[in-house]
Amino acid sequence: MNLKLKFNLVFATLFALALVVAGGIVYRLVLKNAQAEVVHDARRMMDVALAVRDYTVTHVKPHLDPLLDRHFLPETVPAFAATETIARLAKAQPGYGYKEATLNPTNPRNAAVDWEREVVERFRASPDLKDQTGEIADASGTKFYVARPIQIRNAACLACHSTPEAAPASLITKYGREHGFGWQLNEVIGAQVVSVPTQVANDKAREVATAFIGTLVGVFALLFVALNMLLQRWVVTPVRQVAHAANRFSQGEMDTPEFPEGRKDEIGSLQRSFNRMRRSLTKAMDLLRR
Ligand code: HEC
Repeated sequence: MNLKLKFNLVFATLFALALVVAGGIVYRLVLKNAQAEVVHDARRMMDVALAVRDYTVTHVKPHLDPLLDRHFLPETVPAFAATETIARLAKAQPGYGYKEATLNPTNPRNAAVDWEREVVERFRASPDLKDQTGEIADASGTKFYVARPIQIRNAACLACHSTPEAAPASLITKYGREHGFGWQLNEVIGAQVVSVPTQVANDKAREVATAFIGTLVGVFALLFVALNMLLQRWVVTPVRQVAHAANRFSQGEMDTPEFPEGRKDEIGSLQRSFNRMRRSLTKAMDLLRR
């Protein structure tokens, strides 16, 4: 095995090792980062929903309440305001979602589906549970969700959600008498559920990791070429020349020329040694001949 092949084998092995270790670490790190970003995103969306709810109660509802006798305006309902606002946001940010998933909802679109029902049941079973997070997959991809319980803490809610008789007539006209009644004070009746797509963040993470690994491969390829060129030029070729000259000289070609003596490194010292040996041998041969 020649010198260059040995160097290249060692270099390629080290490179493969470095690539696996560094690539693995970087990929793990960016993926973790992406996941943290998704969680952050979901929590921020939840805060947006809460802000819209609060705004509706303090700024919209008081103005619209006097109209309640004539016809019911869902714009006064915080659940409606938050759901509608985030549905509009989701048009610009596909995959984002917000739902006030409820076991027995006034508006059927708020009915909890299978997995949401389980989330709500867990909240109902453990009143101390403040939020739940997790991942779900549906037709549009994998999503991360954050859920918070909706508990009836205020007796005023029961004006519309206890019995059809207690509810405003305009509400019954619009929504009927079947759904959204029978809620109890302090009961957990549903959950606010924010969902955020994980795909975008994961794709971005993969892109960053790929770019990093690509750069690493590029740098190593450059080093590989440079190392080979320098090895050839500084070591392999001059050593071969000395070996070739020594070979010729040992076979009696006394006119084998000397090497120039400018080089200051180990190869230079090898060349000088050859020159010295050549001179001594020539002198010895001369003496013998005489
Ligand atoms: C003036 C009547 C009224 C009052 C008071 C009221 N709601 Fe509602 N609520 C509604 C109506 C109507 C809807 C359905 C809105 C829609 O079309 O999405 C609704 C929807 C909801 C929903 C979404 C699930 C569903 O039933 O469709 C939740 C959760 C909710 N209300 C909770 C509350 C809470 C908590 C309170 C008290 C802080 C409260 N509501 C007070 C009328 C009322």
